[in-house]
Amino acid sequence: MKTVTISFACDGYEPLDAELGTWLNLVLDHPGSPVAFGCRSGLCGTCAVEVLESSGPLESPDEGERETLDVVWPDRQGLRLACVMRAQSDMTLKPVD
Ligand code: FES
Repeated sequence: MKTVTISFACDGYEPLDAELGTWLNLVLDHPGSPVAFGCRSGLCGTCAVEVLESSGPLESPDEGERETLDVVWPDRQGLRLACVMRAQSDMTLKPVD
């Protein structure tokens, strides 16, 4: 089983390991994660994160993810929704305030 490491760009949270391809909401809905979740289906925008680093390419956001980000975070560029992303590579995430 190949794993990747999800790190956080905020104090007090240790990196979490995830099986490659796992949905991030399954990994990050954890007391040791700073990422908050609401709908878990890409609709509410609660789980918005900045991907500060990635060891490999990430899937591009689909139309639904882009629409949610445009509505909920219209002034922020480059955000992603953790609930509709997979653990594809080592990543450093920063939750959006
Ligand atoms: S938890 Fe609602 S969009 Fe991710």
